[in-house]
Parts: sequence; structure tokens; C-alpha cells
Amino acid sequence: MNRRNQSNDYQCWLGYNKIQEQELLKYYRELLRTIVITGDTPVIKSAREELIKGIEGLTGIDPMIADAPEEKTFLIVVKSGNPYLDNLISKDILAKINEEGFLIKSVKRNGQQKIIITGKSDQGLLYGVFSFLRMIQMEKELDDIEIINNPVNSLRFINHWDNLDGSIERGYAGKSIFYNNNQLTDNLDRIIDYARLLASIGINSIVINNVNVHREETKLIDDKLDMVKKLADIFRNYGIKTFLSINFASPIELGGLSTADPLNSEVRKWWGYKVEDIYAEIPDFGGFLVKADSEHRPGPFTYKRNHAEGANMLAEELKPFGGILIWRCFVYNCQQDWRDYQTDRARAAYDNFKPLDGEFLENVILQVKNGPLDFQVREPVSPLFGAMGATNQFLELQITQEYTGQQRHLCYLVPQWKEVLDFDTYARGKGSTVKKVIAGSLFSQLYGGIAGVVNIGDDDNWTGHTLAQSNLYGFGRLTWNPDLSSGEITDEWVRLTFGNDPVVVETISQMLLDSWEIYENYTSPLGIGWMVNPNHHYGPNVDGYEYSRWGTYHRADHFGIGVDRSVKTGTAYAGQYFEENAIRYESIEFCPDELLLFFHHVPYIHQLKSGKTVIQHIYDSHFTGVEQAIVLKKKWEGLKDKIDEKRYSNILARLSEQVEHAKEWRDVINSYFYRKASIPDELDRKIY
Ligand code: GCU
Repeated sequence: MNRRNQSNDYQCWLGYNKIQEQELLKYYRELLRTIVITGDTPVIKSAREELIKGIEGLTGIDPMIADAPEEKTFLIVVKSGNPYLDNLISKDILAKINEEGFLIKSVKRNGQQKIIITGKSDQGLLYGVFSFLRMIQMEKELDDIEIINNPVNSLRFINHWDNLDGSIERGYAGKSIFYNNNQLTDNLDRIIDYARLLASIGINSIVINNVNVHREETKLIDDKLDMVKKLADIFRNYGIKTFLSINFASPIELGGLSTADPLNSEVRKWWGYKVEDIYAEIPDFGGFLVKADSEHRPGPFTYKRNHAEGANMLAEELKPFGGILIWRCFVYNCQQDWRDYQTDRARAAYDNFKPLDGEFLENVILQVKNGPLDFQVREPVSPLFGAMGATNQFLELQITQEYTGQQRHLCYLVPQWKEVLDFDTYARGKGSTVKKVIAGSLFSQLYGGIAGVVNIGDDDNWTGHTLAQSNLYGFGRLTWNPDLSSGEITDEWVRLTFGNDPVVVETISQMLLDSWEIYENYTSPLGIGWMVNPNHHYGPNVDGYEYSRWGTYHRADHFGIGVDRSVKTGTAYAGQYFEENAIRYESIEFCPDELLLFFHHVPYIHQLKSGKTVIQHIYDSHFTGVEQAIVLKKKWEGLKDKIDEKRYSNILARLSEQVEHAKEWRDVINSYFYRKASIPDELDRKIY
């Protein structure tokens, strides 16, 4: 495909459209006429190509690429050991750059202004180049800058739930860009563009297949390894390591063994050979991701082994090659009987894993979903964070909007993720935030990071809803630096994607920042969760939770609603937190409104801190949510003359659909509770 002809929505935030402001354009053209970027490794080659592409697009000039810095060269991209830097940048400053970080600094040499981009590694240079291009796209002055930028998390992961037949589990933007009919796609150019997008936001690791590993994907470690190698070859050029989800029962399914028992010596040997084969083909292979003993996946429980025994067996085989084993904590009994008020799915991750703290090998990382259930619009933060001080922990987020509107509704998740990252676990007293736990800094762990289940597919705009691109962008930026604010990330994304017109920037930013609350308003109230249709999880269905044939999970009856998870009278889930949080969640008095029904069963006439009763809150928030969805659409219509037709109409269509579906949510939820509670709306609005 001719890249120059790619549409704006395909290019996402790497559109590099020509600078509009004429004075600035002149200034950049003057400065970027000649550039130097030294080195010829694959990653540096990618950085060089990107730099040229970016400068060409943004300024309209073809920059001269010199081999070595000359007097008149303005932009110089060199590794930190390069002697050219000797008298230009102090050792103290260089020492502040970490392995993947970079420095962008303006300097003067013989009276000439220059910009230096430097880093210790090829990746550092690549990230520096992307960051520099971002500055130009955002029309920043380059006169007096010194930016030292290091990633906070060492592992910044994307998880694909792609299947080899081309389908994507919880994918809302078309088919897989990797696979088609059990083969690798022909369109490798698209994968290169994808790698560019990921590298530009700092992603350095990718799992290329679904955690639910079916028959075909099981073969990726076997006779389909060639497909993995081809993808790894592309991602490597952008500093991204390739990982695979594996099937714990592979020794049986591929190896013909009678068992997959992790303590069985034949099983260990089998995995050992497999791992050797993989590294022979892909020497920098990242490692495995495992979903075990969950939702019918095989795992060590079958053999009466625990999850440390399962994970360590694989980790031991990966260790000699520098490989990592990521083990998911999404382990629960999906057949559990909800009528038994003591069993509680929310408890499962903690109950299963906390007792194993300290038993995992050092190249094992536990991957924990942000909440105890499953990526609901509102959940408390998982109590496992901070509870396993002797174990590497990853945070798993869902970029794909399974429960948050499936990319048909606008729901910008960065503010939600910020709340998770900033949540204080109190594991080591005040200030023990989740972001410190997962970065490995709270307990000095070897590995840490964030994994996001990605939201892309082969739709031309990658994400179905063009505005959903912001979730991928925001995810990457937060994994790089969890201290960035939602406002900063949003402002960046809008400018890079739609340009710097202040009205456009202000309007879209506000739409994004309001959208999570709006979605929450017209869907599931006060932290109760679900209320979606079973299986596909789209649209309202109050009793629809697929595993609730054993009774309703929300426990709503004529008098009240909510799940009692207190220690005193409920499932005792609240007791899994460190004291400060446990106390807060235990009592109805202290529990924050937005999580009240997650932690407590209360009468509909219970008064919230807001002063409203629970039932009135349900009615009001659902009416308000619909009004707010209408406002979102109106705001967008106000931008008609400022946005290209393709993106304008894509987004308008989705926002219109959102309004209609919001009404459906409002009516289904309000009428369900009106009938259940028999309490009229104080404002006497029509409830269908
Ligand atoms: C949810 C989701 C599944 C997914 C699972 C997981 O249950 O609906 O599609 O497989 O989470 O995270 O493993």
C-alpha cells in the first residue's frame, strides 16, 4: 500500500500532517534540513525511517541525512557513548538516562543551535525520535529544552486475544490483522504500521494469541512456529519482544503424553525440548502467558498441584534463555452456586494466590486484572495488589471495551485506569500505590509492568470507533509513565490525531474526559456490575449474567439490592484489603457511593452520601446519562466543518447509535427497578 495515500483514520496519531502555522513551518524547515542519525541496527533503521517520514509529512521537505554530525546539522541522534557528545552534554545528565530512556536537549556548539537525541540503547533512540516528532506535531518551540524521559515500567505489554481462524475474542473492530484462515496474513505492511503505532507509545512486548488457546493456536509452539517467527521478525525491528499464550495441556495435545502434570519428569522434559526449539528459531523470544484452571482451561489443579508448581515448571525451562513466564490470576470457579451467600467470585484471585506468595521463581510474573471481577465499568481495585510482596506483579487492563460499550459507545478509559494506578493499597503504609507495586518499586521486584488486552482489528481505522484509538494511545502512555495526568494524555492524543485547532482540541478532549462517567450513568449503577446480555455482553439485561443460573448475582429483591461483602455479615471479601481500605469498605457509612452495591446489600430507600436514595439515584443517573449522551453527539456535530468527512461520519454514526442504546439501557434498568421496588420516581418522569 502506498503509505502516502493512507487515510487519516488509518494513520491514527502518526498522521504527520503539514504544520499549518506558516511562521512555525518556516522555522522547522530551516532547522530540519539536515539531520544525523548514526547506526545501522534494525531498530535504528526504523527510527531513521520514521524520522524521515515524519519530517517529510510535517514540513514538506526531504531532509538531508548526513553520516556524521557537521557544523550545520541541527538534529543529531546518536547513542550516549558517541564522542561527539563529550563536550556537549555532561556525564551527570547522561547518567540519568536508563536502559530504554532518552534525552532530548537543545545545545549550542560554535554558536549554532542544535538538538541532541540520545539514549543508551537503540530502543531509547527510537522512543526519543517518536517523542521529538510528537513535539513538532504539537507545534512546540525547540529553543530551550532538556527532557530526560525514562519508562517507569520495564515491561509494557499488549495482549492479543486473536485466534488463528482470524476471529478475535472480544474484538470490536473487525478481524485479526495477524491471522486469516489459520494462516499468517499476506498484509505484512499493516503489521509494520501496527508495530510503529505500538513503539510510538512505548510498548516493548506483545502476546500474539488469545489466552484461550484452542487446538490451532496450541500448534504455534509446534508446526506453526514459523508464523511466530515471522511476526517476531517484524516486531523486533521496533524494539518489541514476542510472547505466546500457551495451552497447559500441550504435552497431551501435541506430545501424546498421558498427562500434563507439572511435576511429572516426562512433562518437564517435553516442555524443555519445546522451549529449546522455540529459542533456536527466535533467540530473543519473550516467553509464555498462561490462563490455567479458569473458564474450562486446563491447569495444575487437575493434578492436585498448585499454581506455583504449574508456573515454576514452565519458568524453569524458560530461565536459561532469559524467558519470562506470565501467569494469570483470573482463576475462579465459573460454576459456583450464587445462592450460597458465602462463596464469592470476587474473592477467588486472592484466595488462590495470596497463600503462594514467595513460592514463585523470579522469572514468573503474576498478571492480575484491575478489579476482582472482570473489567466492569466500576469495580474496586483487586486486593491482590500489594498483598504479595515477594512476587512479581503485573496489572492487566482491558483496552478492548467488552463491558464498556464495545467500541460502539464512547468510553475513554484513561481516567478509570488512573484511578486504579493511583489507588493506595497501604501495603507498606500510606503511599503504597498500585503503580508502585507493579513497577516493582514498592517491594524492589525484578519485573513489573502493565498488560493491556488490545482493541484493534482490521477495520480501516483499527478500532471500529475512531475515538477508541485514544484508549490504545492512552494505555501506552500510561504504561510508560503512570504519573501523566488524564488531561495531558488526552490533549496529546487529540492534537496528534486531529490537529491543533483549539476548538477541536477543547471539544474532543472534553467529550473523552466526560465519557466514562456518562457510560456509567446509564448502565450499571453504584458498582453492582454486569447487567449485560450473556455471552456477547452487549446491551442491558439485569439478570443476564451468564453464570447466574444459580440465583442472581446482584441479589436484588423487593426491598433492596447489592452484595454483602463485609466481614461481619457477608462474604468477607472486604477483609482481603489492608486495614485502611478494609475498614472503609466494611461499613456502609464509609464505603464510597460509587461502590456501595459492590460491598453492601441495602434497601432501595437507603440514603447515599449524595443525599439521594438508592432508587432515586438509579432513576436520576439513567435519565441524566441519556441527556449527556445526546450532548456528546451535539458537541461532535459542532465540529462538522473542522474534521474530514470519513472520520466525522464514522464518529457521528457511533454517537447516534450510542444515544439510542443509552435510551434502551435507561428504560430497561429503570423499569426493572421500578417494578421490583414499587417506589415511584420523585420527579414523576415516565418510566417504561
Ligand atoms: C472474560 C471474557 C472472556 C475472557 C476472560 C479472560 O471472561 O469475557 O472472553 O476469556 O475474561 O480474561 O480470560
